[in-house]
Amino acid sequence: MAEPKANELMEKIVSLCKRRGFIYPSSEIYGGIAGFWDYGPLGAELKRNVKDLWWRRLVHQRDDVAGLEATIIMAPQVWKASGHVDTFSDPMVDCKTCKGRFRADQLAETPCPQRPSKMVSECHGEKTPPRAFNLMFTTHVGPVQDDSSLAYLRPETAQAIFVQFKNVLETSRQRVPFGIAQIGKAFRNEVTPRNFTFRSREFEQMELEYFIKPDEAVEAICGRVATPAGPGHPGEPQPDWGWQMWHQYWVEERLRFYESLGLSRDTLEEYWQKPEELAHYARACVDILFKFPFGTQELEGIAARSDFDLSQHQRFSGKPMTVFDEELKNAWAKLPKEKQDALWRRYFEARRAYLTRMGETAEQAEALARADADGLAKGWYVPHVIEPSAGVDRLILALICHAYSEVTDTDTKGKPETRVILRFHPSVAPIKVGVFPLLKNRPELVAKAREVRDLVRTRFTVFYDESGSIGRRYARQDEAGTPFGVTIDFDTLGETPALKDTVTVRERDTGRQERVAIAELTAWLEAHLR
Ligand code: GAP
Repeated sequence: MAEPKANELMEKIVSLCKRRGFIYPSSEIYGGIAGFWDYGPLGAELKRNVKDLWWRRLVHQRDDVAGLEATIIMAPQVWKASGHVDTFSDPMVDCKTCKGRFRADQLAETPCPQRPSKMVSECHGEKTPPRAFNLMFTTHVGPVQDDSSLAYLRPETAQAIFVQFKNVLETSRQRVPFGIAQIGKAFRNEVTPRNFTFRSREFEQMELEYFIKPDEAVEAICGRVATPAGPGHPGEPQPDWGWQMWHQYWVEERLRFYESLGLSRDTLEEYWQKPEELAHYARACVDILFKFPFGTQELEGIAARSDFDLSQHQRFSGKPMTVFDEELKNAWAKLPKEKQDALWRRYFEARRAYLTRMGETAEQAEALARADADGLAKGWYVPHVIEPSAGVDRLILALICHAYSEVTDTDTKGKPETRVILRFHPSVAPIKVGVFPLLKNRPELVAKAREVRDLVRTRFTVFYDESGSIGRRYARQDEAGTPFGVTIDFDTLGETPALKDTVTVRERDTGRQERVAIAELTAWLEAHLR
């Protein structure tokens, strides 16, 4: 069958999501609200599975990552320190004729609301010069609505991790290198929400801040800093890893995660940001892109952010964000003087450059950087960070797009019939098993089927369905992406004695059927749902 065109395919996906209860427009009965989406029964399960898998892999299956769940509204100074108040904005122009507001860098692609055949860049409406439009949603805390009560809905979950860094370090008994992971809502007043849920105004992020030693500390302790020998996964973390090794490690770990959810490497791309595209504090950033029907677009960014974030919060809060490293202190004391001087100077220069960029006077930057480098020599430093930051909603959309497939069968009258199968990887499938009595008007079949349902749902999400032909019930579950269907028939009841207490298990992707003993069903499913 021919591949549907990109737009057509997206329309089919959006309509399937609505029809099957994956994703609905928010507040739909009031006409919806642009950039906001709700997850229906199947979407909620899919999202929960994805978040659980991320959490399990990053927090539960590692010794070096601890979890956090922070508030959405934080002290407004957080966003001043992070730079979001001053720089998290898009340049906008207003049209004095139609009163529309448009992104200055997208005028050539945006149709004029009054004359849609013309782009805004060509229409005659008089425009204001570009002005920065901050993307953070504001609110007020407490009963008085003035500047003193102004607060923001967080535009990323990351900042809470930096702000709570010291608390987590002290209570989790972790030592650098270690990470803090968080999943939660983020809000951005996007100027042009688009491509279904891809760019939303309310969305969820899964973020890890992985704190590492500065390279100067690694070099003092290990005598060298390991850098990547070539592309690919660098293997188990080692004490001599510098930031480049850690960065590559996390890019590869994240690619492996996506593959484990069924997104094959040929649907993913790595994009290494060019030096001119990097934020001023970032040393490198790799975007993991997915081939969506509307184009190859970002799923996740993995940035090496130096010690910028913790340093900013140290400056703005006045609270130290340094850690003490006994190993560094001991190693430093044993270094030859020239090595000490060289490492001291490198660290000093990096700190001074950062402080100068942040607007400290030359003398102040010099004095603070000197104190920082003296601190390093005694075992103290502000950790650097590698940040893998993923969007839950974009991943959900990628998984649905990737799973979507159409098959054409012939119905009982010989007519071709096209239907949808969502070929989800079993680990993310919203429902793992459909359970069906062959006929609903045979109480003994129904009773046995309910028994099987109760047995299976102690371990897996189950959908029990007794209405319609068995073919229709299979098709409904194929469309929901359910990997296995279990049918209870007369053989289950002993009509063929050798098959008593067995059921038919049908596989979604191949339609293949297998007879499995009820006593072994849970173990069978366990083995096949990995
Ligand atoms: N802390 C770093 C950070 O927030 P980002 O690239 O702005 O970096 C990280 O966002 C991820 O969050 C993106 O890769 C994307 O998956 C998701 N994301 C960002 N803006 C989004 C939006 N408007 N709608 C849906 N997901 C979004």
